[in-house]
Amino acid sequence: MAVKIKTLSGYFHEYQKSVVNPEQFWGQQAEDFFWRKKYTCVLKWNFKEPRIEWFKDGQLNLTENIFERQVFTLQDQPAIIWEPNDPNEATVQLTYGQLFEKVKQFSNVLISKGIHKGDRVAIYMPMIPDLAVAMLACARIGAVHSIVFAGFSSTALADRIIDAEAKMVITSDGSYRGSKQISIKPLIDEAVEKCPSVETIIVKKRTGIPVTMQAGRDFWWDELTAGASFDNVATVMNAEDPLFVLYTSGSTGKPKGLVHTTAGYMVYTSFTFRNVFQYSQGDIYFCSADIGWITGHSYIIYGPLLSGATTLMFEGIPTWPNAGRFWDIVEKYNVNQFYTAPTAIRSLMAEGNQFVEGKEMKSLKVLGTVGEPINEEAWHWYHDHVGKNRCPIVDTWWQTETGGVLISPLAGITPTKPSYATLPLPGIQPVILDNEGNELKGNSVEGNLCIEFPWPGIARTIYGDHERFQQTYFSSFPGYYFTGDGVKRDEDGYYRILGRVDDVINVSGHRMGTAEVENAINEHPRVVESAVVGFPHNIKGQGIYAFVVCNDMDESTSEEGIIHSIKIGVNNIIGPIARPDKVLIVSGLPKTRSGKIMRRILRKIAASDYTNFGDTSTLLDPMVVDQIIEKSKTLK
Ligand code: WT7
Repeated sequence: MAVKIKTLSGYFHEYQKSVVNPEQFWGQQAEDFFWRKKYTCVLKWNFKEPRIEWFKDGQLNLTENIFERQVFTLQDQPAIIWEPNDPNEATVQLTYGQLFEKVKQFSNVLISKGIHKGDRVAIYMPMIPDLAVAMLACARIGAVHSIVFAGFSSTALADRIIDAEAKMVITSDGSYRGSKQISIKPLIDEAVEKCPSVETIIVKKRTGIPVTMQAGRDFWWDELTAGASFDNVATVMNAEDPLFVLYTSGSTGKPKGLVHTTAGYMVYTSFTFRNVFQYSQGDIYFCSADIGWITGHSYIIYGPLLSGATTLMFEGIPTWPNAGRFWDIVEKYNVNQFYTAPTAIRSLMAEGNQFVEGKEMKSLKVLGTVGEPINEEAWHWYHDHVGKNRCPIVDTWWQTETGGVLISPLAGITPTKPSYATLPLPGIQPVILDNEGNELKGNSVEGNLCIEFPWPGIARTIYGDHERFQQTYFSSFPGYYFTGDGVKRDEDGYYRILGRVDDVINVSGHRMGTAEVENAINEHPRVVESAVVGFPHNIKGQGIYAFVVCNDMDESTSEEGIIHSIKIGVNNIIGPIARPDKVLIVSGLPKTRSGKIMRRILRKIAASDYTNFGDTSTLLDPMVVDQIIEKSKTLK
């Protein structure tokens, strides 16, 4: 039977088992699920090609494990509680039984529009229950969903649709975000102009703003479902059939579509959900992420629903109508587990304590964080003011690529330490390597975080580019999965994540590739070249700092105008999350004689740290550095 760990010694015991005999351990975790055909082979793998196959010869459908498997116990229990953007609008609660009906019905809609097993379906929607219905319906018929966070620009959406060759886009007319009403459908129209693969667009009405519908291509969600049957038999999937693609940024090139497959992801997200959050039947669980990110996939939808949980979906933002909104929601629904990002905690902390002070939040048992390192001050504020000193904090470290949490306390079981993700979950074998690839054993060491053995939730490939998958994650340190993070293991063997060691910036818990932002900046007609780095930011964790070289600059040029239009440009090409916080126009970038930009110098300047630039002997023109330093001091 699948385990739920209850004590610290239980954790050590299970961890030991999972390392000594991983196949037996995970075979056991997978047993309780409903298999159309039971697996006989738990794991086949090598990290060289890499090839990773879990429960390879098993057959199943993930949605049968949410619905049919749990139907007798959970029929009338709320699966999804939806809190709208406007606190005065009616909430929606869907029981497992009601959600099942909607998923079956929408599965039939997808089939009637020619979607088959293996086809890709792009989803670009606000946080409304229909988003959950759309993704589960894809999973039910074996279509591969590719959800794109609805803050991305039409260009960014088009790039993702083209890469995945999606046949359909599911979207809405518009959305609500705080006091704003946002129009979505025109953005979709603009994107699909560049996407010949898209045959159908399904539009859910949310705001009711007028939109144009192209006959034969665009259909209203409600009209299609009105005539659709509720009878639907799930498509039988192989364990390793893809479940979804999700794009994320890397150090270089365009975003990569990470592919997650069916059985391993199912087993891993439900195992980690139950154990990390210590969810008990009847609890109300609230994760404030957007479903457009992996956190929402794994810990708003799949992990909780596979565990029979009640999961709360919130459409709005933490600061509207005021900075007490999260706490109001916790009190309104008696939330037991609350999971958010350090950036949200820091921004609410900055608004002052008056929004949290009067809120007792007696129901809260567990607090979680994810997405970026949490600083001690934010950790303590979360612990004292939100958790009222009685709720353990689970600082969960993981990535889009890992599918689920890898290093984290188990709530109330693992003793916590502020800013530490603490210990690896069962099945996870972290190692710390120096830059030459030597393993740093024992405690009190610091280096590159790698994992030396597969777990069921790990991504299997990059969509359409297995070679890039191998290159990105398995080539820096042969034989290991390389996370891109630096880590410290302290004297107690606890892990503390130090942040990215590559050219990925983590802005408010969102990953941005420096190359991606540079490419967007370089599209500006005045820009000759640019270099983007992260810098410490009080609220966002990291901000984006762009050093830009422009042509035809003279006394009369308004730098302000150019800087402004560069920011707008990035906003339009990628989306608001990529908009640089600071743009500095410089006369040249610090390059080596071989033409490589010395980013470490720029990182230091961006952090206003002008000491100790290390070895600069390979710089082509050391004067450039002094010029940049001088100019950077004029930037606020
Ligand atoms: C990167 C992955 C996993 C869902 C959200 C982000 C950073 C994530 C933590 C944490 C310190 C963290 C890492 C990682 N990160 N969680 N608890 N402590 N850093 O997913 O967009 O794939 O980003 O986020 O740097 O590599 P993602």
